Formats: sequence, structure tokens, C-alpha cells
Amino acid sequence: MAMLLTPILTMLLVAVAVHAQSFHRVISPKVMIISMFEPEGQIWLDKFSYSGLGNLTSQAIATPGLSMLYPLVFCTQSGSVCQLTVGEGEINSAVSMTALVLSRSFNLTQTYFLLAGIAGVNPRHATIGSVAFARYAVQVALQYEIDSRSLPQDWPTGYIPYGRAHPFEYPCITYGTEVFELNANLRDAAHGFAQRAQLQDAQETRNYCLLYSEMGPPYHTAVMPPSVVKCDSATSDVYYTGGRLAQAFENTTSLWTNGTGVYCMSAQEDNGILEVLVRATIEGLVDFSRVIAMRTGSNFDRPPPSRTDWEHLTHTNQNGFHIAIANLYAAGIQVVRGILADWDCTFARGVTPSNYIGDIFGSLGGHPDFGFGSITGGRKLRAAESRRGRRRDNRNVVSLAGVEMARRRTFGAKGAMKM
Ligand SMILES: *[C@@H]1O[C@H](CO)[C@@H](O)[C@H](O)[C@H]1NC(C)=O
Ligand SMILES: *[C@@H]1O[C@H](CO)[C@@H](O)[C@H](O)[C@H]1NC(C)=O
Ligand SMILES: *[C@@H]1O[C@H](CO)[C@@H](O)[C@H](O)[C@H]1NC(C)=O
Ligand SMILES: *[C@@H]1O[C@H](CO)[C@@H](O)[C@H](O)[C@H]1NC(C)=O
Repeated sequence: MAMLLTPILTMLLVAVAVHAQSFHRVISPKVMIISMFEPEGQIWLDKFSYSGLGNLTSQAIATPGLSMLYPLVFCTQSGSVCQLTVGEGEINSAVSMTALVLSRSFNLTQTYFLLAGIAGVNPRHATIGSVAFARYAVQVALQYEIDSRSLPQDWPTGYIPYGRAHPFEYPCITYGTEVFELNANLRDAAHGFAQRAQLQDAQETRNYCLLYSEMGPPYHTAVMPPSVVKCDSATSDVYYTGGRLAQAFENTTSLWTNGTGVYCMSAQEDNGILEVLVRATIEGLVDFSRVIAMRTGSNFDRPPPSRTDWEHLTHTNQNGFHIAIANLYAAGIQVVRGILADWDCTFARGVTPSNYIGDIFGSLGGHPDFGFGSITGGRKLRAAESRRGRRRDNRNVVSLAGVEMARRRTFGAKGAMKM
């Protein structure tokens, strides 16, 4: 009997081992750190091993579709923490993220995404070296633009929302990527963890920050040492700078979030990444309630009174880059540590949002507190898998497009109609 059982048992064990091995190749990270370019990624790779949380270069996973500059995802031995550099700008970040979420090497269903990049900073709400956690990301430059020299002198900006004739009206043509709202409870938890960080500052940086004291009390945070704050992120492929554009986009952020968003950090990727994460959530590949958008101030988005916009951009050294990179890690590692430490009791299950989360269409269900309301009547869109091969569902898509067209008509779309 025993003689007979042994080969069967052996075969069974081999089968289990082979299965476990192939299963093991799929990495299920608890945290995926998203960097935008080389220095932001390198600080994690250089410093992570001192955190006691593992060696972030233990595994280097090649994934098709990543940036040619950053073709590898790095992970600790256990796979619990990984890091990807997506590349700069809206196109690179969206394409690399798409490659990541579709990769068969990863199971990202329970993963927390920590978007961690440096940024231009609004001196009214933060300073160089400050760390901001966003609830909203707004794609502020997704508008018509007329060179302001061709407009009447009293126009505050050359940006005009799609489908409108004047600045600062609510856009009535929407592409879907204008505004994303993130889980505010998770944002608050991350903000709490990051407050444990010892933030770096530098005297030369402070000297430049002091120039903003001439602008009076609304700008007092610019003069203060860096801190951890809660305020929102603007995305634009155009690296804008200067008082007029910064104020115009500050207005845009407030308007497009229906008065709730506060613009404090400007960068070139967040909305690209977040669109991918919304679509991947529809497919059940990731969980949009597990996204944290962190930015650290590297340079001011507008000059102090003693400088012109152009001088501020090209002829001053604000000395902010190194402390912004340093604080990205200093604050970020506390967030990673906080999530891992409380994984079993809190983060494995998830942090339930009490605010709306998702895009301007309401694609993940619920009713956006900005924009013109859900295009799905509050329903979550169904995954492609459950729509496949069913003709009836094509009508679903057509009728969504119908809703959008009706909406454009309702709100009097004029100018270029995108169809
Ligand atoms: C981390 O792992 C990589 C790859 O095995 C190795 O080259 C590197 O020396 C390790 N780093 C540390 C700090 O142990
Ligand atoms: C991914 O991980 C989740 C949670 O552990 C699990 O339920 C799911 O089956 C996994 N998916 C795949 C495709 O392995
Ligand atoms: C921003 O909005 C304020 C108040 O609506 C307006 O007075 C100002 O001109 C706007 N600024 C810019 C630069 O667009
Ligand atoms: C947001 O503001 C716009 C413009 O004022 C308005 O049309 C829209 O209904 C508001 N949306 C919500 C959800 O309050």
C-alpha cells in the first residue's frame, strides 16, 4: 500500500510545487511607488534598503510597453513593495501605467499606488520642500488657448474652457480626464504617516522663499519651513510658470471642482496616471480607492515681486530640487511603512472612502460632486469581459455617447465639436 502511495504522493507534490512556482511569478505588491523620472526613482532605489523593509532592487521585472528609459519594475524579494518610473508628461505616464496594469507579472487588485513626484508649488499654500497630498487632480490646460496678445487687454487669461466663449465658465465639452477625485480618508491617513517624517530644508532655499514675504499675509506659507499639507494637484503637459498662468489655473482648479479643490502643486503626469487607474478599476484590475497622490515642491510656480516671470524661470536658482527629492523619500517611506505596519488590521481590507471617488463621468459609480453629474445614472461601468460578445451591450455604449451628445447640446456647446 505504502509502496503504491509514494509515487502518487510524489506526483501530487510535484504538481503542487509547479503550480506554486508559476503562481509565485505573479507579484502582488502591497505598495507600488510611481516615480516620474530618474532622480525621483533613484532616491528610492538608493535609500530603501536602510528602511528595514527589504531590498527594492531584489527583483527587476521587464514589462512590455514601459518607457525605453525605464523598462523595469523593481520589487523587494517578497514583492510587497515595488517601484516604477513611468516617464515624464501625460503621454509617457499614461502609456507606462497602462502597460503596468495589463502586465501578467502583477496582481494589483489590493495594491496601494503612491504617486510620488516633485512639482511646481503655489506660494499661497505651501513652500519649497513641502509635501502635499491631493484629493483632486485637475488637467487645467485642457482648454482652448488664444495668445493673450490677440485678446482685449482686460482679459485675465487666454484660456477658454471647451465649448465656451469666455474664461472661467464650466467647460461643456468633456474628455473625461479633466478632474479626478481620490479617497479623502486614505489621503488623511497618508498625511498622518508623512507627518512622522523629518523634512529637509536648506538655507539657500529659504533665502529665495523669503523674497515672497513682500507679498504679504496670503503668501506667508512660502516663507515658513516646509511642512506636510493637504491640497490639490494640477496637471499640464506645458510646463507653465508665472503669476498670470498660475492664478488662472488656480481659478480653473476651484471652478472645475465646484469650489472644493485648492491648487497647490503643478506637474505633468497625475491625470494621465489616474485615467489609467480608473479604467483598470472598471476592469477589476486595481482599486481606485487605494490611490495616493503625493507631490513635493521643487520650485515656485510664480516669481516673487522682485523678479519677472522670465527671470524666475531662467535666471534664478531656487535651490529646491534636492530638498524636494529628499522629502519625496522622507515622507514617502513613512507612508509605505504605515501601510505595511497596519496591513492586516486596516489596509488589506481597504480604507472606505466617504467622498465620491473617480472621474468626471461617474465611471466608478456614484455621483461626482463636480461637473454635470454621472453619465451612467450613478451605476459603475461594467468590465469589458462581461460586455464581450453581447450585442445588447453595444447599445449601452451608444446610449452613453447619446447622453454625452445630449449634454453638450444642453449646455450650448459651440465652437469646435469633437466627435
Ligand atoms: C539588493 O539586491 C540586488 C540584486 O540581488 C543586489 O545587487 C544588491 O547588492 C542588493 N542591495 C543590498 C543593499 O543588499
Ligand atoms: C489577485 O489577488 C486577489 C487577492 O488576493 C485574488 O482574490 C485574485 O484571485 C488574484 N487574481 C489573480 C488573477 O490571480
Ligand atoms: C481669477 O479669478 C478672480 C476672481 O474670480 C478674478 O478676479 C481674476 O481675474 C482671475 N485671475 C486670473 C489671472 O485669471
Ligand atoms: C458644478 O458647477 C457647475 C457650474 O456652476 C454646475 O453646472 C454643476 O451642476 C455643478 N455640479 C455639481 C455636482 O454641483
